[in-house]
Amino acid sequence: MENRLKPMDAEQLREYGHKMVDFIADYYKTIENFPVLSQVEPGYLRNLLPDSAPNQPDSFQHVLDDIQAKILPGVTHWQSPNYFAYYPSNSSVAGFVGEMLSAGLNIVGFSWITSPAATELEIIVLDWLAKMLKLPEDFLSAGQGGGVIQGTASEAVLVVLLAARDKVLRRVGKDALEKLVVYASDQMHSSLQKACQIAGIHPENCRLLKATSSTNYALSPEFLSETISQDLTIGLIPFFLCATVGTTSSTAVDPLLSLGKIAKSNGMWFHVDAAYAGSACVCPEFRHYIDGVEEADSFNMNAHKWFLTNFDCSALWVKDRSALVQALSTNPEYLKNKKMADSKPAKTWFLMYSRKLAKLVVACQLEK
Ligand SMILES: Cc1ncc(COP(=O)(O)O)c(C=O)c1O
Repeated sequence: MENRLKPMDAEQLREYGHKMVDFIADYYKTIENFPVLSQVEPGYLRNLLPDSAPNQPDSFQHVLDDIQAKILPGVTHWQSPNYFAYYPSNSSVAGFVGEMLSAGLNIVGFSWITSPAATELEIIVLDWLAKMLKLPEDFLSAGQGGGVIQGTASEAVLVVLLAARDKVLRRVGKDALEKLVVYASDQMHSSLQKACQIAGIHPENCRLLKATSSTNYALSPEFLSETISQDLTIGLIPFFLCATVGTTSSTAVDPLLSLGKIAKSNGMWFHVDAAYAGSACVCPEFRHYIDGVEEADSFNMNAHKWFLTNFDCSALWVKDRSALVQALSTNPEYLKNKKMADSKPAKTWFLMYSRKLAKLVVACQLEK
């Protein structure tokens, strides 16, 4: 076999890895030379690439040249200091080197035994982060709750909605699905509506209550209470309330304490979506924005939005992890092993996103 057709070895990784790091470092050094918004027209790439994959390998340098000439023009430069769309750029050197480590170890962490460090590190790091955010102790893994990494905030809201749905259906009976009602302000991110669709909530029972300038676009507790009362009188079952800290359009902050009390008095699951602004609350001067989180059943923030962690990495905490386990766990034969059978459930409910974890850990720890 020709030398160049052999699988890459560790020395080639060293050589190409260094070249790739140089390429990326040069990209960052010159990033402001690019227009932030890609200027290409739809379909531009089809004319620049062959119709089928090449039969022969190419040199690494040639691949880098192609990226420079054909790919970078089609990139919108999220990491540019001149980028101000959507939400803040999320990358950092710490997040980047964490990605390198996780790509190198390439752990497939679907079970504790497939890499014990992945599960255990996830539990520990999410406890760290909960403490940085001064979340109530109920959200720590020592009790009935704990944190788990999701890909995105959209997945987080879906996961807790499913847990809440199954919890209420266990109480009122499976036939009541059509009667379940979800509440949020109309400023809530669209992921809630999508989660309702997936969870089988009747489309008319996803109440997005109008928030106006009179409340700085926050959800009004009075309006919520009135709507819940009306729904109860017609036989519907309010079961899920989602508040936002930092709405996508205007960073409005819902009043967690009073909303949480309404949820509690109606036996509803209360989720706080702090996907966008939650990271800021590790700073003592901003922590007050999540005052009232002690009323919540679940809390989510995106490390990939404002916590120097490369996309994607979303942190979710719940007070009662058994609700998630009951709604989502499976127990196929190939996942069973003696160590897992002996361990407490606390160690087995995590989804173990080790790839996302390494960059989060490094982002939490790296010295400036
Ligand atoms: C407040 C809020 N919630 C949820 C989301 C969805 O986040 P993700 O892209 O991680 O699903 C966003 C994204 O912009 C957001 O701003």
